[in-house]
Amino acid sequence: MEGDELGVAATMVDGDWQQQQRRRGGCIFNGNGKLLEELVLAAQEGVFVNVDSEFDLDNIVSAARIAGKKVNLLLRINPDVDPQVHPYVATGNKNSKFGIRNEKLQWFLHAVKAYPNELKLVGAHCHLGSTITKVDIFRDAAVLMVNYIDQIRAQGFKIDYLNIGGGLGIDYYHTGAVLPSPRDLIDTSCRVLLNLTKCQVTSILKPILYLEVRELVLSQDLNLIIEPGRSLIANTCCLVNRVTGVKTNGTKNFIVIDGSMAELIRPSLYDAYQHIELVSPSSPGAGISTFDVVGPVCESADFLGKDRELPTPVSGAGLVVHDAGAYCMSMASTYNLKMRPPEYWTNTLETTCPYSATLLRPMGLHPKPKWLLLVPSLHGCPTL
Ligand SMILES: Cc1ncc(COP(=O)(O)O)c(C=O)c1O
Repeated sequence: MEGDELGVAATMVDGDWQQQQRRRGGCIFNGNGKLLEELVLAAQEGVFVNVDSEFDLDNIVSAARIAGKKVNLLLRINPDVDPQVHPYVATGNKNSKFGIRNEKLQWFLHAVKAYPNELKLVGAHCHLGSTITKVDIFRDAAVLMVNYIDQIRAQGFKIDYLNIGGGLGIDYYHTGAVLPSPRDLIDTSCRVLLNLTKCQVTSILKPILYLEVRELVLSQDLNLIIEPGRSLIANTCCLVNRVTGVKTNGTKNFIVIDGSMAELIRPSLYDAYQHIELVSPSSPGAGISTFDVVGPVCESADFLGKDRELPTPVSGAGLVVHDAGAYCMSMASTYNLKMRPPEYWTNTLETTCPYSATLLRPMGLHPKPKWLLLVPSLHGCPTL
């Protein structure tokens, strides 16, 4: 990384992705269950491969032999850092299924050395989890990873890349919280004990310094890779639903909608919060109550939101679940014979969907380069 020199590439988790990405520039093939045939494809294409386990390394060696090409490797080290997120989206603590245990680092370095014709170790990687909102978590990980890279280099490997992953959260709660951006992740300061033989800092009287991650990486002559993930697109889409009816069981009130966990599974899967609003202004006199917003699917796990203060909607009203980018359509299923929702794209608020302009404006949504609307029912977007 030189000054502002930036590049863009894709992280892939299976061979199909590779097929799709192969003509679009550099890639990293990542995952804890990569198949041999996918690794052969990666070796043929010359993409970076993250090593996740002992068996993964064996498969990478086999793939390199089949492809007749040396594979560029990054070791995915599990730094055992708590990302302070739901356990289902934490990936870099010691109970995680991802990465190699840091105490096995030496074993992996010996193993890589044993295959000089098949493997070339070029970097180290970690990924702590998803929806992370505190930039200091990445900062601590960067410092830990630079220490591992020191250990790796001490064994004679020429390491050029540090991949500190990603998992940046977004303002899912719509509180106006200012969350770290990919740029903040690079600019954040960290307290480091510098290896003075390598750093470019002149004063030898200050072995402990506060550096930006950017400076730390540059001082170690590394290229930095980050994986901003959902933070790039999560707030560009919303799931537009129609209210089927309102009911109560005596203690709880429910708004029943046509959308469900089949279209958007995050709330059911890991209790994720997605912000919910009614499309139309509530009718005069509509009382505000606390509702669970639920779908028609035959599990009690089928909810989009719990305990939401909302005006009591009329049947047929529009209800929007925000921030459906990244993990709505990509995780949607046809469970309960529901159809996957049609997608409507728009450059402005005037869209190919005849109703969406009227739908979005009352919600105070700001135009973005692109909005994606997902509409669960056959009836199309709800009207005002
Ligand atoms: C290695 C890696 N990079 C990037 C991501 C994407 O993160 P996000 O959840 O923010 O989309 C993931 C998601 O699990 C991941 O495992």
